[in-house]
Amino acid sequence: MDDLKAAATAATRRGFLKTGLLGGAALAGSLASGRAMAEGDPVITEIQDWNRYPGDGVDARPYGQPSQFESHVVRKNVPWLTSDTISSINFTPLHELEGIITPNGLCFERHHAGIAEIDPANHRLMINGLVDKPLVFTMADLKRFPRENRVYFLECAANTGMEWRGSQLNGCQYTHGMIHCVMYTGVRLKHILEEAGVKAAGSWVLAEGADASAMTRSIPMEKALDDCMVAFAMNGEALRPEQGYPIRLVVPGWEGNMWVKWLRRLEVGDQPWQQREETSKYTDLLANGKARRFTWKMDVKSVITSPSPQVPIVHGKGRTLVSGLAWSGSGTIKRVDVSIDGGRNWHAARIDGPSLPMALHRFYYEFDWDGSEIFLQSRAIDESGFVQPTKDQLRAVRGENSIYHNNGIQTWHVNKDGGVENVEIS
Ligand code: MTE
Ligand code: CO
Repeated sequence: MDDLKAAATAATRRGFLKTGLLGGAALAGSLASGRAMAEGDPVITEIQDWNRYPGDGVDARPYGQPSQFESHVVRKNVPWLTSDTISSINFTPLHELEGIITPNGLCFERHHAGIAEIDPANHRLMINGLVDKPLVFTMADLKRFPRENRVYFLECAANTGMEWRGSQLNGCQYTHGMIHCVMYTGVRLKHILEEAGVKAAGSWVLAEGADASAMTRSIPMEKALDDCMVAFAMNGEALRPEQGYPIRLVVPGWEGNMWVKWLRRLEVGDQPWQQREETSKYTDLLANGKARRFTWKMDVKSVITSPSPQVPIVHGKGRTLVSGLAWSGSGTIKRVDVSIDGGRNWHAARIDGPSLPMALHRFYYEFDWDGSEIFLQSRAIDESGFVQPTKDQLRAVRGENSIYHNNGIQTWHVNKDGGVENVEIS
C-alpha cells in the first residue's frame, strides 16, 4: 500500500484514541514528579549496586546498544495506517532526540516491499541508456571514486500528510516523524555519469531499486549533476539494511521517495519515465481536480518536539524549555520564531548547533510558564526568505485534497496540568 492510500484508509480519530497511543495515557502518572527531593534521599545516602560491584567487561558488548533505561526510545508504526507492515512506515521518535543527527537505529523506515537483504558481494550498479559506455560497477569500483561527507535531512513527501484536513495524530513522532538527518558518505552521482559519458540528448536519469518494489523515479539531469550522491555509509558506518544497504541515492532537499534505496540501476534518457511513483502517487491533487506533479523540493518547515503530546510538561510552572527542529529543501534556516499564544505574538528562538544547508536545525526557546493553558507554535524562515505558512494559507492555495508536502504550522495545546494535545489553529 502506498502513502496516499495509507492516509485515505485512516481510521477515525476516536478509533485512534482507543488504541491508547495518545500521549495523555502516559501523562497521569508523571504529573506527580517535579517536587524538591526530600532530605535523606536513599539514592544519595545509600551505596547503590553499580557503585559496589564491577560491571560487564569490555568484551560483553561488541556492538554497543543504548541503556536498558532508554528502551522506550524506539521507532513506532501506526497499525491502522496500512494493511501490512511490508509496505508501511515506522516513525522517528523525534520527541526523544537531541541535536540534529538521527541515530542510525532510529531513522524512520518507509518500504514499499519490505527490507531487501543484499550481500554487497552480489550487488551491482548498472548505468545504461543515453550514455557512451554502458557500465556495471561493483561495490569495490564505487569506493575508488572521490568520496564526500554531507549531512542532509530526508523527509517523506507524505510527512504530516494525515493532518491536511485537521489535527489527527497525537505526537510529533506520528505527525512529523517521517524525517531523519544523518551524515552520508559516498560519491557524487556526477562522477558515475561522467564515467559512462552522458550523450547530448541525456536530460533525465531514472533511478531503480533492487528491492521487490523496484522503486523507480525520474530525476532531472541538472539535479543529478549538481549535489546527488550514491551513498554507502551513514553516520560513519555502512548504511543499515532499512536505509538501502549497500547503496542508496541521496537527493538533497528533495522528497524522500526519490532517494532510491538498494540502488541497482541508473538509466539516462531524454524525458521523464512517468512511473507510478511520479504520476498516480507523489502528486498533489488540487481543488480544481488537476494534480501538481514533480513537486520535488521539500519546503521550509518546523515542529516543536518538546513539549509535545508524548512529552508533557511535568515540572509545573516556572522555567520551561521549548525544543524543536526546523529544515528547508532550499538551504539553511535563517530564523525560527516561537509563539505560546497560538500565533498572536512571536518570539525569536535560538538556533543551536551546526546550520547546514538541507539539514535539520535545532532550536530552543526558554520561557517562564505561568501555568495557564498555552498554544505552542513554531514558524521557520529559510535563507531564501520562504516563511512557513499557516495551514489555512496552505489550503487556500492547495485545497483540501492534498496529502503530500504539508509544511503548515503545527499547534500543540498545553493544558494547565501540562498535558499536551495536537490541535489546529489556522
Ligand atoms: N527505495 C526503494 N528501493 N524502495 C522503497 O520502498 N521508499 C521511498 C524511498 N526509497 C523506497 C525507496 C520512500 S517513499 C521514502 S520516504 C524513503 O525511501 C524512505 O527512506 P528511509 O526508509 O531511509 O527512511
Ligand atoms: Co516516502
